[in-house]
Amino acid sequence: MKILVTGAAGFIGSNFVYYELANHPEDKIVALDLLTYAGNLENLDACKDNENFKFVKMDITDRDSIDKLFAEEKFDIVVNFAAESHVDRSIENPEIFLKTNILGTQTLMDASLKYNVKRYHQVSTDEVYGDLPLEATDLFFTESTPLHTSSPYSASKASADLLVNAYHRTFNLNCTISRCSNNYGPYQFPEKLIPLMINNARHDKSLPVYGEGLNVRDWLHVYDHCSGIDLVMRNGKNGEVYNIGGHNERRNIDVVKTILRELDKPESLITYVSDRKGHDLRYAIDPSKIERELGWKPKYNFDTGIKETINWYMDNQKWMDNVTSGDYLKYYEKMYGDR
Ligand code: NAD
Ligand code: DAU
Repeated sequence: MKILVTGAAGFIGSNFVYYELANHPEDKIVALDLLTYAGNLENLDACKDNENFKFVKMDITDRDSIDKLFAEEKFDIVVNFAAESHVDRSIENPEIFLKTNILGTQTLMDASLKYNVKRYHQVSTDEVYGDLPLEATDLFFTESTPLHTSSPYSASKASADLLVNAYHRTFNLNCTISRCSNNYGPYQFPEKLIPLMINNARHDKSLPVYGEGLNVRDWLHVYDHCSGIDLVMRNGKNGEVYNIGGHNERRNIDVVKTILRELDKPESLITYVSDRKGHDLRYAIDPSKIERELGWKPKYNFDTGIKETINWYMDNQKWMDNVTSGDYLKYYEKMYGDR
């Protein structure tokens, strides 16, 4: 089979390329990415000579180029990771989120219909469900939880999901959607909580915790997200949504303290800064559908996964140095300078 992976030079996309090459050596992977600030070809270094792998630099909103690529390659499966993915950036500048996340999805689906792609898979997020109250720990997001978004990012992802449903019903697009909770693991850009805190701690810089640090996220190792997507895109039912999550809820402050403890750094590095606008309180996934219907099971729990992940960043400090030079410094000053 030939599989198009968009957003393949980003965090989850690159991990997914490695997952596919290792677990399905019979398949060919075309990895597409625009290489925005979040895309990094270095993430794909270890597979660049694999004969089942090919990289294409392209914008998913560039209709002519996408059409030409689909005509040439005749993909069996398209899996769309490409997106603007950071909530804080969407609060600063929503427009690019609407363009990439909504119109980009439409462009890929139009090409999938025109060139008879067998399965279009949309990588979505639990943020489309909004948030849950902190105290109602028995409440979880299921696939039938109503969409109720908070940020321009989550609104753009929910819009894309609705468009996928519309293409399924109106044009018979063969499709699936997966909605996962917060990922952690290798190659995550250090604008996101875990790699940002690891990077600051290794430089003895202050660790900026939003509000009181009591918001809860449900952490899943990126490897487990990849194994879930692989099952859904190959075996999931046409037109269905699958939640992916491993019941690893943690308060932000506890995640940050774990990182400090593992790196043997003092808690005095923590600085409480002004809260994110519209900050979602708690995410928590009910993964029983993917477990029951597709036999998915996570391999990692957070306590061991986070240690392995911290070690990865400490063993790959050159990678971290490369992605935190240049524009990253300007971004950091803009977002945290006088917060
Ligand atoms: P990321 O920001 O690390 O990677 C996104 C990639 O998309 C980058 O490589 C970027 O260059 C590329 N891209 C952006 N615009 C593009 C365009 N117009 N054309 C082609 N490529 C473009 O994001 P991530 O964390 O790897 O997330 C991947 C997907 O998974 C996103 O759709 C996101 O919404 C979803 N998701 C992420 C998480 C998480 O915790 N990170 C959880 C659930 C779902
Ligand atoms: O739930 C899935 C989503 O998880 C994905 O759809 C998004 O693409 C991904 O970015 C992530 O969204 P979050 O907003 O939850 O992730 P982020 O790492 O930005 O923040 C995690 C929590 O940590 C959140 O409550 C805000 C807080 N935070 C974040 C940063 C960057 C801080 O307290 N300080 C920080 O500096």
